[in-house]
Amino acid sequence: MDSPYKADILKGKVALLTGGGSGIGFEIAKQFGNHGASIAIMGRRQQVLDSAVSVLQSLGIQAVGFVGDVRKKDDANRTVESTFQHFGRLDILVNGAAGNFLVSSEDLSPNGFKTVMDIDSVGTFTMCHEALKYLKKDGLGKKSSEGGGIILNISATLHYTASWYQIHVSAAKAAVDAITRNLALEWATDYDIKVNGIAPGPIGNTTGMSNLVPKQIDIGAMDLIMPLFKLGEKWDIAMAALYLASNAGKYVNGTTLVVDGGLWLSRPRYLPKDVVKQFSTGLPNSKL
Ligand code: COA
Repeated sequence: MDSPYKADILKGKVALLTGGGSGIGFEIAKQFGNHGASIAIMGRRQQVLDSAVSVLQSLGIQAVGFVGDVRKKDDANRTVESTFQHFGRLDILVNGAAGNFLVSSEDLSPNGFKTVMDIDSVGTFTMCHEALKYLKKDGLGKKSSEGGGIILNISATLHYTASWYQIHVSAAKAAVDAITRNLALEWATDYDIKVNGIAPGPIGNTTGMSNLVPKQIDIGAMDLIMPLFKLGEKWDIAMAALYLASNAGKYVNGTTLVVDGGLWLSRPRYLPKDVVKQFSTGLPNSKL
């Protein structure tokens, strides 16, 4: 699908994306690149990174991959430093690396819980921490006339209420949202860095979806509770990311933008509309 944005909205910017080698992270990398940014992607698997980088380069995007695990502070530090060495600056950090699997709470070991907290929450904070000296106004590589950079944290909606078999992810994403808000307060004030999040709903053709929705589940049956009656596309998330990373979102700070077609609000309709009408017309003083 074509982008509604001008092709140069991220011209001259350098973006580093964790989990940028596949899925939603890769689509954001591609769209940022298509809109003028140079791209560094970080992930655990060399092969995945290599093929992602070659796809980006084939599209004419300046791209480089760094193998690393956001759970390791040294990897985070090396990746941020290498991105700066390679491109001479860093403007946008996207924290997309995440762990996820379905498991009932009693079957989840404390180490399993900790593993997802370490990737999603601690990993997000570690990357922000390592990137601060480059992202901040007057930071390394920045001209004095420039403002500070942007952080985008990929979150979820499952912790707004509760979610079956995802206590670890709910806890981890709740922490991510807290990181988003607290850094937005502290780092916008002190360093002119804007920090926002995106909470995707169910997005088609992603590892997340195949891990979380077993093949036995008929997505069609979900129509009953999904306001827009369809899965989102990776493109939808990338367009939201472009809005937040570009000047279009210059006054947005500390928010997590929900991009789920309204799914998190949905409830099964417990009465058909015509029944409501009959019921309402029977009430005293009804105007229907
Ligand atoms: N069910 C229950 N526990 C699980 C699990 C599962 N499917 N996968 C991992 N764990 C537990 C392990 O049992 C272990 O705990 P233990 O030591 O008490 O046994 C702990 O988590 C660490 O497991 P390990 O395999 O050593 O972790 P890892 O570092 O190799 O990778 C993940 C863990 C979370 C990254 C990986 O399992 C994963 O989820 N990958 C998918 C990523 C994904 O879907 N991304 C898209 C996000 S929407």
